[in-house]
Amino acid sequence: MDTKLTIVDLIQAKKQGQKIAAVSCYDFITASIVAQTNIQMVLVGDSASQLILGHDSTLPVRMDFMVDITAAVRRGAPNVCLVADMPFLSYQVSIPEAIKNAGRFVVEAGAQIIKIEATSAQLNVIKAVSDAGMSVMAHIGMKPQTIAKIGKFKSEGSTAEIAAEIIDLAQQMVNAGASSLLLEGVVTEVAEIITKNTEAPVISCGSGPHCDGQILVAPDILGLTSGKGPKFVKKYANLAQDTLGALKDYAKEISDGIFPTDEHCYHIKSGELEKLKSMLKDKT
Ligand code: KIV
Repeated sequence: MDTKLTIVDLIQAKKQGQKIAAVSCYDFITASIVAQTNIQMVLVGDSASQLILGHDSTLPVRMDFMVDITAAVRRGAPNVCLVADMPFLSYQVSIPEAIKNAGRFVVEAGAQIIKIEATSAQLNVIKAVSDAGMSVMAHIGMKPQTIAKIGKFKSEGSTAEIAAEIIDLAQQMVNAGASSLLLEGVVTEVAEIITKNTEAPVISCGSGPHCDGQILVAPDILGLTSGKGPKFVKKYANLAQDTLGALKDYAKEISDGIFPTDEHCYHIKSGELEKLKSMLKDKT
């Protein structure tokens, strides 16, 4: 991609029926590789809490860390449409704080869209951040930041009543100013209805094929995470195995004295070693 993609390009893609490929990634090197593909959107997700920092939920990750890694991803992928994830407590405390924190992603990290995990209690936050001039992605359905309240994750919208609530919430988010939606773990049929009834691009994370785009986290796509993961994950490589093999080979070559060889070494200039030895004579 030669020019930076924006929300306008994604709205256009939706109108033309072109699917949007998105990925969650958290570092410069992975982002530099993503930048060489047709992936249009990168989210720096608060899943960094588990996948980078090793926590057992998204809750502990802090604002400063999210800003730093978002800026790193932007440096690696200058032209993707970059979405930053508002971490837990960065938008719930007050509207001014939410606007300030959202703005940090734009000003300090080059993000173009601000993602907020939203219930109906967050409609005023969506509106305020949007009114402040930022493009907001409302994340509805399964919301990892509510884990302490819900205990465990399950798909969302499997009964008509709950489905109607989610459809209504999606519309309320758009009315409040969200210019895109992320549906996580929403049943396929409901995700399809939401997608058909809004002009806002709808990205699916485990919400079926009828949305305008799909997102998975890079470590899952690359096979770096252990275990099978959620049902909606598809692995496209097995980098955990490759990484393990490479690191074991590296350790073995060191213990066997095979690495490094001369090709990995710097050398003193010709004639300088003799000079050095005579200079050191008195000291050796
Ligand atoms: O944090 C994240 O990476 C996300 C995606 C899984 C959608 O929210």
